[in-house]
Amino acid sequence: MQHSAVDVIRTKRDGHVLSDEQIDWVIDAYTHGVVADEQMSALAMAIFLNGMTPAETARWTRAMISSGERLSLDVSRPTVDKHSTGGVGDKITLPLAPLVAACGAAVPQLSGRGLGHTGGTLDKLESIPGWRAALSTSEILEQLSSVGAVICAATAGLAPADRKLYALRDVTSTVEAIPLIASSIMSKKIAEGASSLVLDVKVGSGAFMKSVDDARALATALVSIGVDHGVRISAMLTDMSVPLGRAVGNAVEVAESVDVLRGGGPSDVVELTVALAREMLSLAGISADPAAVLASGEAYETWARMIRAQGGDPEAPLPVGTHKHVVTAPASGVLSTLDAYAVGVAAWRLGAGRARKEDPVQAGAGILCLAKPGDTVVEGQPLLELHTDTPDAVVGALQALEGGYAIGDSAPERMPLVIDTIRG
Ligand code: URA
Repeated sequence: MQHSAVDVIRTKRDGHVLSDEQIDWVIDAYTHGVVADEQMSALAMAIFLNGMTPAETARWTRAMISSGERLSLDVSRPTVDKHSTGGVGDKITLPLAPLVAACGAAVPQLSGRGLGHTGGTLDKLESIPGWRAALSTSEILEQLSSVGAVICAATAGLAPADRKLYALRDVTSTVEAIPLIASSIMSKKIAEGASSLVLDVKVGSGAFMKSVDDARALATALVSIGVDHGVRISAMLTDMSVPLGRAVGNAVEVAESVDVLRGGGPSDVVELTVALAREMLSLAGISADPAAVLASGEAYETWARMIRAQGGDPEAPLPVGTHKHVVTAPASGVLSTLDAYAVGVAAWRLGAGRARKEDPVQAGAGILCLAKPGDTVVEGQPLLELHTDTPDAVVGALQALEGGYAIGDSAPERMPLVIDTIRG
């Protein structure tokens, strides 16, 4: 049957269900430039407004996987991966991948760059002198066998339809649609070939999903796609209303991750790293205790080998922003709010993130949260330390922080860090 983009758009615009043939055709035609960006934008908006059924989402995901190659991870250890839906201060991949590898799994962590207020794992790691994100498929396989963990950029051949569509959604305000997010994440993860996958679905102001109900719906969609494709899968709903840890940015997050790998670091980062590691190991059928392996220093050794394997020097000093600005407590009391979104936008404006995909990021830019909600503070005490190479950026960062922190009389009510786990 002959298809046309206009017919496909009209079907979804009018609230109907797309046929399998329409979905296969439109994804293939968009990947090959037959369907234009403006047509795909209209279709993405129609999907954003009218949704997709679970069957449509499943077919859409399949079509995006088929737009490119599928890695075959032929390594002797069980492969297990983690994916976060994106947050502020979310550096968990950095300590988690070497930790789970040190416990006996192979962790292929094909990661992305930050866009908007959420940071990107590759941007953070690139602050390590010499480290390189781009590896060939054979280098990925070799490192998985020799080190057990690899964090690198997705190869160009993996789910190219998603790469094009994600960039388009980003500039057409169509990112926050559950079927589009679920198919985007799962097409990449399934094409990457890990046999087990743990999803960290973030909830709160700093996440795409602001409410637990929306996050649960996204988690359920993600798990159902994974199950359909024979992936052992769990989704953990975790709090993203407050930045994770104390560091938000690039080099500052690497430094905090190294602290965790050396047995220190903020308790929330340690707690989430160990909780995700336990879930990953359970899916992979490995009985090691990640808390004990973290304490033993073996995870740090694996980190150092992983960084060296990609040309980085794990012992080299990390870049520091040339300019520092300190925000102090306006009153004495208890820090009652530290909003993840406000801190994420402020760090981004300081230079830690990019406004356009081609922009560079500053390795030394970011924010140190010197107090966290529940901490007692005294008027004039430093609350936040802003780092940047571009002092003019401080004004915009301070504007982003307005209303983003508050001092009260008592510790705020907080959700648990791990709110729920949905298993496939
Ligand atoms: N992460 C992705 O990979 N895709 C989305 O659509 C949202 C978050």
